[in-house]
Amino acid sequence: MKPQHLCETEKELTRRTAALIIQAAWQAASKQGHCTIALAGGNSPRPLYRMISGGLPPDLFTRLNLPLPAAVPHGEATVSLPWRQCIFFWGDERCVPPDDARSNYRMADEELFCGKNPEELTMFRMHGESSPPEAGAEAYEAELRQLFINEKKGSDSSYPVFDLILLGLGPDGHTASLFPDNPAALAETEQWVQAVRAPDMEPKVMRLTLSLPVLNHAETVVFYSPGKEKAALAASIERGERPDLPAGMVKALKGRVVWLYPHP
Ligand code: 6PG
Repeated sequence: MKPQHLCETEKELTRRTAALIIQAAWQAASKQGHCTIALAGGNSPRPLYRMISGGLPPDLFTRLNLPLPAAVPHGEATVSLPWRQCIFFWGDERCVPPDDARSNYRMADEELFCGKNPEELTMFRMHGESSPPEAGAEAYEAELRQLFINEKKGSDSSYPVFDLILLGLGPDGHTASLFPDNPAALAETEQWVQAVRAPDMEPKVMRLTLSLPVLNHAETVVFYSPGKEKAALAASIERGERPDLPAGMVKALKGRVVWLYPHP
């Protein structure tokens, strides 16, 4: 019989992704009292963020064999993120104001944080409206260096170690705002955050993005790519067949990379 996830609907794929993210967040929060999460942009995460925001029935985690830590409150109708213990960041941002329809911050605000008590939320957004964009990249890196200075997790790495980084996949194999036609940005090892030129695809605006080494030092990277049109590409990248593409360069040095896409 085909493994369950090979014949699941997009809704089931989104639910499994939401459950995995919620479990990973609770595991980090239970272990160290907080969880650092870098959010993905684009459009695909909208239903995923809505699902996480609304929470999931506890029995779903059992059915998906995603056991929840004891710290998760019992007897609730739904389980969601440990909101008070989560510290939210962004993996990339478009160089537009936060209220712009193209803003990744605005998308997360509309879909993930909607209806949440702002006092419960700790977030550090990338200031896409910065001028010049390089100043926005420097400012965000300074914030990360301040926040992660004590977050060494016993590693001697000179990069921050996020508990969770959510990533999408572009049709050209880009992820965050690391594009195949920008080798300099892909080769960057000094800057944790970069301002990169506008890609040849919409939205054609400059971007701020975490650099590849930062993605590769995360505890857990979750690639969520629900579109059937990108399934074959996702599968080939997951099999390690496309080390030439940005998404194929995301390798877990110490953590894990989880690919979630509809099987072709
Ligand atoms: C962005 C994203 C980008 C996105 C992919 C997939 O700001 O555009 O971070 O990397 O994840 O382009 O986009 P969709 O989810 O819209 O297909």
